[in-house]
Amino acid sequence: MTNATTTMFNAEAAGYTRRRLVPCFDGFYGAALRALELAAPGPLRAVLDLGTGTGALAAMVADAHADARLTLLDGAPAMIEKAAATLGPRAAAVFVQDFADQLPAGPFDAIVSALAIHHLDDAAKASLYARAHDVLRPGGVLVNAEQVLGATPALDALLRRWHEREARALGATDEGWAAAAERMRHDRCATADAQLEMLRAAGFEDVAVHFADGRFAMLAGRRPG
Ligand SMILES: C[S@@+](CC[C@H](N)C(=O)[O-])C[C@H]1O[C@@H](n2cnc3c(N)ncnc32)[C@H](O)[C@@H]1O
Repeated sequence: MTNATTTMFNAEAAGYTRRRLVPCFDGFYGAALRALELAAPGPLRAVLDLGTGTGALAAMVADAHADARLTLLDGAPAMIEKAAATLGPRAAAVFVQDFADQLPAGPFDAIVSALAIHHLDDAAKASLYARAHDVLRPGGVLVNAEQVLGATPALDALLRRWHEREARALGATDEGWAAAAERMRHDRCATADAQLEMLRAAGFEDVAVHFADGRFAMLAGRRPG
């Protein structure tokens, strides 16, 4: 099933990169990798990536965890095909489907996601977190590196201005930033605090923000057990 967001991503799969648009890229993705340590003890084997895109996060997880086999899930076939090609045999399965559809059964040692869940409205986010909890093994971890809403409208406006300034400093052109602004009209960001509450309500424990920089925050929680 496609929607306006996944259709938009499908069309931009060929030149897809986020390095200029996520000023804190290395720290942000690095924090997601560190948070997977919450899933210890034991090697990480079965990992589900929600909103794989072209596979930036999935490839980092696979590179960092030799035993990890990634289940890739995204509604944009052109994006996920690139990820599957990059991961090769390290991709255990590929699901071209909407987040609203039934998740792969698992159980997963970890579920990761980067810059994808903010495309859902709050009810759909809460539903996805609850269903993600249910396909994790007890003790498994959910790690979400996400674009978030500022805590107040004034702070959000400030974060938007910082974001544009930093993206331009990294080389985003007028055209590039205009295209990003158009894409961001599809965003349905929630504050980090609101999502911590959603994670707790879904049954997660050890829920926390592990990294935050401007509009980008990395949230994680663990299924009890
Ligand atoms: C910014 S990209 C992914 C980035 C990728 N995780 C990475 O680390 O580079 C967001 C992805 O979420 C997917 N997506 C957004 N909404 C979706 C939905 N409702 N169902 C499935 N996939 C969705 C898009 O198709 C897109 O590929």
